[in-house]
Amino acid sequence: MRNAVLAAVALVALSWATHESVAQEADAAAGERLFRQRCGACHQIATTRNGARPHLQGMVGRAAGSIEGFNYSPALRDSGITWTADTLESYLTNPTAMVPGTRMVQRFNNAVERRTIIELLSSR
Ligand code: HEC
Repeated sequence: MRNAVLAAVALVALSWATHESVAQEADAAAGERLFRQRCGACHQIATTRNGARPHLQGMVGRAAGSIEGFNYSPALRDSGITWTADTLESYLTNPTAMVPGTRMVQRFNNAVERRTIIELLSSR
């Protein structure tokens, strides 16, 4: 009896763990797709190459406007912002409201999409 209970508990734990990682993979895939659609025209995340705009690898925890070799707007370079989930949330919601003078002017109005993209940025 005791063994049966333990086995049942183990089974539940196992299926929960599987479920979690499937959900995480689904989120990551959705994040990659959204990133390509919403940001990919301007930003790279798979490489550290700057196109016409800065690459976004390792963004969370970094000071805004600090990638070597990219010519930022003075507004962003001198903003004093450190990128975190919260500061990214404000910037993506309305970049020019947060950093007047920034050269990124697109607003991203969908909160679920912002969260998914920020999770992707946090994982790279
Ligand atoms: C039409 C082009 C364009 C699109 C689309 C775009 N960006 Fe940007 N992004 C820029 C430019 C230009 C800059 C540099 C801004 C500056 O120098 O003021 C920038 C800067 C940034 C920065 C700051 C980088 C740093 O090194 O401090 C982040 C973070 C960022 N973008 C995130 C995103 C995300 C996430 C998306 C998609 C949801 C996105 N951007 C879509 C053009 C774009």
